[in-house]
Amino acid sequence: MSENNLNGSRGRKPGEKSKPSIDINRQATAVMDDLAPSADPNVLLSVRNLQQHFPINQGIIFQRQVGAVRAVDGISFDVRKGETLGLVGESGCGKSTTGRTILHLSRPTGGKIYFEGKDITGIRGQELKRVRRNMTMIFQDPYASLNPRLTVQNIVAEPMVIHGMGTAKERYEKVQELLELVGLSRHYGTRYPHEFSGGQRQRVGIARALAASPSFIVADEPVSALDVSIQAQVVNLMEDLQSRLNLTYLFVAHDLSVVRHISDRVAVMYLGKIVELADRDVIYTTPAHPYTRALLSAVPIPDPRAEKQRKRIILAGDVPSPINPPPACRFHTRCPLAQQICREEAPEFRDIGGGHFSACHFAEDVASGKLSMV
Ligand SMILES: Nc1ncnc2c1ncn2[C@@H]1O[C@H](COP(=O)(O)OP(=O)(O)OP(=O)(O)O)[C@@H](O)[C@H]1O
Ligand code: SF4
Ligand SMILES: [Mg+2]
Repeated sequence: MSENNLNGSRGRKPGEKSKPSIDINRQATAVMDDLAPSADPNVLLSVRNLQQHFPINQGIIFQRQVGAVRAVDGISFDVRKGETLGLVGESGCGKSTTGRTILHLSRPTGGKIYFEGKDITGIRGQELKRVRRNMTMIFQDPYASLNPRLTVQNIVAEPMVIHGMGTAKERYEKVQELLELVGLSRHYGTRYPHEFSGGQRQRVGIARALAASPSFIVADEPVSALDVSIQAQVVNLMEDLQSRLNLTYLFVAHDLSVVRHISDRVAVMYLGKIVELADRDVIYTTPAHPYTRALLSAVPIPDPRAEKQRKRIILAGDVPSPINPPPACRFHTRCPLAQQICREEAPEFRDIGGGHFSACHFAEDVASGKLSMV
């Protein structure tokens, strides 16, 4: 596997949003097929062939496993220091499970997770606690994720207490600073979550996530539960915090419109697999997987003339069950471009040029428009 390509080869600085171009005709140069971490010092997190299968048990007294939900079924990607990797896909495709498994909220069934070059897959105890300080999560629902019985001061300070950071006075002062940093008044520390609006609560959730000074944050649909008018404010705040604190984000969302603004690169998931991964602008202008094309066709275009001409690609049928995913290409049961080979051979997740990965036998032709879906 060429790490250069896995990680995108243009060597952008953290936070810098470039307009890359790709050479579609280039030969496939890399396939993510081994378990080694990225050798690139700019990479913070490497995920290799990660699997999370939830067992399905049957039997009243003697429970035996009769199957498994293959929520995440062998995915590989890198996240570079200071970047935002957007992770998108329909409900149930495995986005949250990916984030939770990386953060060790559940143990992976297979594969490897590397953080700062170290294998953290099976760590426990103090080692796990140390890593947890560096990685945290912002949740979708700011109503459910904050303990209603605690004051904002105690909610935000909790990670510092868990990690034994500072004295009570130092923690108090740090919470005051954090509240200001996320755009809330320092006086709000004495209040309870129910006294706030959704947007304010999410700011409290962000302050809490920042309390132990992490470097990597999984933001699991952080704006999906908020009013559209508030969503942009929270996304802007997250961007501002990222550049101030040099944070790295895995930003999970249902649809491609939400991650467009904030992401440096975007990964698209379908039924437990990443089917495409590329620089943000490449994904939106030259998608190389039919599923990405279908997702993109659902995103409204701000220009009224272009919007009028937008042709929606409606996929046939429902997403198959992750208990028994289709063989070979998982998308073949719904793909308008499916051929015999798609039902027989699983496409490799390969680099078609410049760090643009796609798991489609016809990736180059999809990207060039030679194979049209409308
Ligand atoms: N603890 C669990 N036990 C069994 N199955 C699970 C568990 N957690 C998730 N799943 C299943 O794994 C699959 C992936 O779920 P996940 O929550 O990761 O999807 P998602 O992409 O985050 O969806 P959404 O957009 O709805 O949040 C789903 O089929 C889900 O039902
Ligand atoms: S491999 Fe075949 S079925 Fe799968 S996405 Fe490509 S064209 Fe569609
Ligand atoms: Mg989810």
